[in-house]
Amino acid sequence: MIKREHWGSRLGFILAAAGSAVGLGNIWKFPYMAGANGGGAFLVIYLGLVFTIGLSVMLAEFVIGRMSEKNAIGAFAKLKGGLWPIIGVFGVAAAFIILSFYSVVAGWTISYMIKSVTGALAVEDPAALGDIFGTFIADTTSPLIFHAVFMALTVFVVLAGVGGGIERASKILMPALFALLIVLIVRSVTLPGGMEGVAFLLSPDFSKVTWSTVSDALSQAFFSLSLGMGAMITYGSYLSKKENLPGSAGWVTLLDSAVAVMAGLLILPAVFAFGFDPSAGPGLTFITLPAVFAQMPFGAFFAFLFFLLLAIAALTSAVSILEVVVAYFVDDRGVSRKSAAVIIGFVIFLLGIPSSLSMGVMGDVKIIAGKNFFDLMDFISSSLLLPIGGLFISLFVGWVVWGKAQEEIAAHNGVIPIWVGAWGVIVKFIAPIAIAFILLKGLGVF
Ligand code: TRP
Repeated sequence: MIKREHWGSRLGFILAAAGSAVGLGNIWKFPYMAGANGGGAFLVIYLGLVFTIGLSVMLAEFVIGRMSEKNAIGAFAKLKGGLWPIIGVFGVAAAFIILSFYSVVAGWTISYMIKSVTGALAVEDPAALGDIFGTFIADTTSPLIFHAVFMALTVFVVLAGVGGGIERASKILMPALFALLIVLIVRSVTLPGGMEGVAFLLSPDFSKVTWSTVSDALSQAFFSLSLGMGAMITYGSYLSKKENLPGSAGWVTLLDSAVAVMAGLLILPAVFAFGFDPSAGPGLTFITLPAVFAQMPFGAFFAFLFFLLLAIAALTSAVSILEVVVAYFVDDRGVSRKSAAVIIGFVIFLLGIPSSLSMGVMGDVKIIAGKNFFDLMDFISSSLLLPIGGLFISLFVGWVVWGKAQEEIAAHNGVIPIWVGAWGVIVKFIAPIAIAFILLKGLGVF
C-alpha cells in the first residue's frame, strides 16, 4: 500500500483549511446577509453558532479524518461501516452540487477582474451597473466561458496533489488574500461617512431577528466553515499524528470568522459612505461596490484588487470541494489523481451549466417551490445536506467512536484536556438537537 500523503507543515495545513473556509461565503454572502438581517444582530447570532456548533463540528471532522486517514466515505466505512458511510455519500453528492454553482459565481469574479481593467465598470450609477451585471449573468455563453476557466484552474491545483498543489497554492494565495483585504479595508473605513457602516455592523438590532434569521445564520456557518460534507474530514486525513487538532480547529474557525467580519468592514462602510442600501442582497458585491469604486480616486485599481481577492478566496475553497470527490476516487476506486481531477472537474462543469443559465434563458424555469435551478442547488446543499451532514457527524463522534475520538485528541501529547467533556456535551446533545430544531423551524415544519 502506498503511504498516505501528508501536509508538509502545520502552517501549510492551517492555511489550506482556512483557504477552504474563507471563500465567496465570507466575502460575497456574509456582508449581504448581515446587511439584510439587521447588521450586528446577525453577526452576534452567527458568531454564537460558529464558536459553539461550528467549532465542535470542525473538530469532529478533523478527528474522523485523522483517525481513519481516509476520504469522506471511506472514513465512515473504516471506523464503523453499516449505514454510516451514507453520510460520506451525501457529502460527495453535496460536493458535486456546491462546486457546480460555486464555480459559476467564481467565474463572474474573474470576468469582473477583467471588466475593472477595461473600464467597463467605470459607471457611477448603480442602476446602470445593475443592468451591466444583469445582462452579463443572463448571457448564455460568456459566463459559461468563465465558469470553464475557473473549473480548469481548480482542476489544475487539485491534480498537482496535496502538498505540491493544494498546500503550495494556499501558502501563496492566503497571504495575498490577507494583504488585499487589509489594503481594501483601510480604503473603505477611511471614506467620509464610512464609520456609519462600521456602526451598522457592530450595533445589533434584534427587532429584525426571526427564526429564519437563525436558520440562515446556521446554514451560513456551515457553508462558511466548509462543514457537513467531509471537506474537513478529507483535509484532516492528510494530517500527521503529532498535530494538535483542537488548536488547528480553533485557528481555522478564528481566521474564517475574522475574514467574514473584515469583509463586512470592507463592504458596509463603502456602501454607507455613498448612501447605498446595505440590504441590496446578492448584488451588493457586483453592483453596489463597483458604483462605490467608480466614485473614488483610483477606483479601477481598487475594483481590480477587490475582484482578485474574491477570485483567490473562491479558488482555495473550490479546490477543497473538488478534493472531497477526488480523494474518494483515488482512495477507494483506484483512479489516478490526474484522471479523477480532470474527469470529475468536467462533470461538475456540466452540472454548473443549468445553474449559469438560470440567470438568463432558464430563469423562468421553476424546478420546485418557485426556485430556479441555481436557487434549488443552493438550497438543497446549504440548507439541507450540510446541516444534516453536520448533525450525523456530531452523532457519530459523540456516540459511535467517542472513546477513540478522545484518544485521537490526545494523540499529540498523550493528555486528554479537561474541556473535552464540554465538547462531548456539544457533539452528543447540543449540536444535534439545535441543528434539528433550527432545520425544522427554518423549513416551517412547526
Ligand atoms: N467555505 C467556502 C466559502 O465560504 C465554501 C466551501 C468550501 C464549502 N468547501 C466547502 C462549503 C465544503 C461547504 C462545504 O465560500
